[in-house]
This record gives sequence, structure tokens and C-alpha cells, in this order.
Amino acid sequence: MSNATFYSCAAGKTDDAEGSLLFKALGKIEAEHATIWRKILRLPKTPVGNETCYIENVKNLNESHERETRAIDFYKKAAEESDHDRLKQIFKALVDIETDHLHLSEARLK
Ligand SMILES: [Fe+2]
Repeated sequence: MSNATFYSCAAGKTDDAEGSLLFKALGKIEAEHATIWRKILRLPKTPVGNETCYIENVKNLNESHERETRAIDFYKKAAEESDHDRLKQIFKALVDIETDHLHLSEARLK
């Protein structure tokens, strides 16, 4: 499950111009995160997966909301379980970043 792939899919498919710009920006950020993790963990470049996205912007916003919620939970848990101070800080910073992302969809789903 690649959030970067989802966002670039949504940016191309959504019926809302502002939504397209938002998803494009979020896709860029998530792709940067993925690159950093690949470097830290020395993983090979991941193949571009097939992610489902939607024409209706509200469905993409809902999907974004779910994905960011999962990311926040994941990084929160990682921060709690990490016994390495620097890693803990990084995970906490990522919780903040993903929380900002969550607020972007929340503001538009009201
Ligand atoms: Fe995010």
C-alpha cells in the first residue's frame, strides 16, 4: 500500500481542480518519505503498485483520511516502541506531518 501511488492516481483522476493540486502535493511528500525509508533501510526501489483512486473528489478525500489515520497510528506506535532516541524523534515528527495531512482532508470533508 503506497500512499504516494494513491495520491498521484487521485491527482490525475479527481473531478476537482483544487483536489488535484492537493493530492499532487501530498503525493510528492509521501514519495519523499518513501525514498528516505528506502535509503535508511537500504531497500531496492519499490515497483509502482496499483492503487485504487476515484473520480469523485470526496471519495479520494475519504481514502486520504483513512490512509493518514493509519500512518499516524503506525508512527505513533513506532515512536512508543523505539528505544533509540533519534528514531523516536523522527517517528514523532512524522506523526506531526501526517496529522497535518489528516487535517487537510478533514477541512474539506466538513
Ligand atoms: Fe501523509
